[in-house]
Amino acid sequence: MRNKIVAGNWKMNNDLNESINLISAIKKGLDEKNSKVEVIICPPFTSLETASALIKNTAIKLGAQNMYFEKNGAFTGEISASMLKSVGCQYVILGHSERRTIFGESDELINKKIKSAILSGLNPIFCIGETLQQREKGEAFKIVDQQIKKGLAGITKEEFEKIIIAYEPVWAIGTGKNATPEQAQEIHQYIRKKISTIYGEDSAEKTIIQYGGSVKPENSFQLMSQQDIDGALVGGACLKADSFLNIIQSAAI
Ligand code: PGA
Repeated sequence: MRNKIVAGNWKMNNDLNESINLISAIKKGLDEKNSKVEVIICPPFTSLETASALIKNTAIKLGAQNMYFEKNGAFTGEISASMLKSVGCQYVILGHSERRTIFGESDELINKKIKSAILSGLNPIFCIGETLQQREKGEAFKIVDQQIKKGLAGITKEEFEKIIIAYEPVWAIGTGKNATPEQAQEIHQYIRKKISTIYGEDSAEKTIIQYGGSVKPENSFQLMSQQDIDGALVGGACLKADSFLNIIQSAAI
């Protein structure tokens, strides 16, 4: 059985004080005895170091929302994997659809980032998912197929086992319109099969595949109950401690 992992992607929200308040509220409400669900928070870069100190000795883990693949150098505005490690990050979100569409990140760039993250000991949360137009054209499977193939090019089985996959249909992100549990399960099952053909059934069975896209307390239980959905990557609903905690609770099944 795979454990569920619920991650909160704060995106560009919360300054330092707001971050402290949100983390305090999450800590207060989290049932630490409920070790069945792993919890990750991904605040903006400016709050990572403080977040790391605040979650010390708790079950909450820390992730970043992005990084660059180079180790160091003249890359103004960028942050490396080792910098993230040095402030206590264990995870990094890579390939998020907002990075792909707003910032033009290609599968090739994401692949380099994944390799660099793993080399530095970070666990990538690798996001994939189709747009509405692609889904309507019946291309959802083809798109996730390509994203997996290109994003994971050259990654060994051992390296792959450090990766969490997040299936996030672009049309469901921030729109309030989630995929139905059946729609999500169908693609999750497909992704697991695809992983099995690349890395073998044992790796596929162990792989955590999160669902993301308008997850909220009202729909999370049904989504989390699907066989191949192993947790959630939560955006909007992770910005309020109550709704984030409710989603975590609903994953404890
Ligand atoms: P959402 O975002 O929950 O606000 O749809 C999810 C994500 O982008 O990871």
